Amino acid sequence: MSLNGRVALVTGGSGGIGAALCRALGAEGARVAVGYHDRTELAESIAQEVGGVAVPADLIVPRGPELLLEQVRESLGEVDILVANHGVAHRASFDEVDAGAWDETLAVNLRAPFLLAQQVIPHMKAQGWGRILFMSSVAAFTGGIVGPHYAASKAGLIGLTHHLASRVAEAGITVNALAPALIEHTDMLPGDPGYLARAIPVGRLGQPEEIADMATAMIRNAYMTSKVVSLDGGMHPR
Ligand SMILES: NC(=O)c1ccc[n+]([C@@H]2O[C@H](COP(=O)([O-])OP(=O)(O)OC[C@H]3O[C@@H](n4cnc5c(N)ncnc54)[C@H](OP(=O)(O)O)[C@@H]3O)[C@@H](O)[C@H]2O)c1
Repeated sequence: MSLNGRVALVTGGSGGIGAALCRALGAEGARVAVGYHDRTELAESIAQEVGGVAVPADLIVPRGPELLLEQVRESLGEVDILVANHGVAHRASFDEVDAGAWDETLAVNLRAPFLLAQQVIPHMKAQGWGRILFMSSVAAFTGGIVGPHYAASKAGLIGLTHHLASRVAEAGITVNALAPALIEHTDMLPGDPGYLARAIPVGRLGQPEEIADMATAMIRNAYMTSKVVSLDGGMHPR
């Protein structure tokens, strides 16, 4: 299935995994909006490389998703492919996480993906085609090492995937999630790469391109929906 000419919004496009997602979707012919928060220069250079646009927004605020989508609409049109990939991972043990830290992580990692999906679905329904992909994590299954707030936010995306998928499937919209483990060349690695690799059965960290490759296959496929695909070098189950 060709993605040629489809408008794809990749949030967190300035990050390690996001940049690879933007390149992969750009290579499929999609018109890519590179969502970002702080790193303007990086986002703009990725947008230039893939022939897309860079769109800033702070997705911690409730109106962030709406403001982001307004910019995408103005520059590229309605979103056909949403890859809600952005995220924060502030490492803290369960006894350190207070209500503020909990709310911030859940707002960025879970509320924003939901609001983005909610706001792109009407257009996807109207045209009878759409793709939504959430970026979960192996932490949703194992608890992980970042913290309870992070694990809960990533597990929440799985429930969200299943809830939405069955409600929009008839309209030609697929809703899936990817659950990576430790991925190299990202700012999110919770420790030394060499040390972390020892926890992974395949003996190495994952590459952003490996995530992007799987994401693209999932987006191309019209029959895969309500699925969570783990890309974790065998971390779970083991
Ligand atoms: N790296 C891993 O090992 C790993 C494992 C499992 C799951 N994941 C998930 O993969 C996704 C991509 O992460 P990554 O590894 O590529 O990490 P990263 O390099 O740290 O990228 C994070 C991205 O999220 C954006 N972001 C952060 N806060 C934001 C906010 N308030 N509003 C809008 N955008 C915001 C950042 O934008 P700016 O840089 O412009 O501020 C950046 O583009 C995340 O959802 C993460 O949880 C990563």
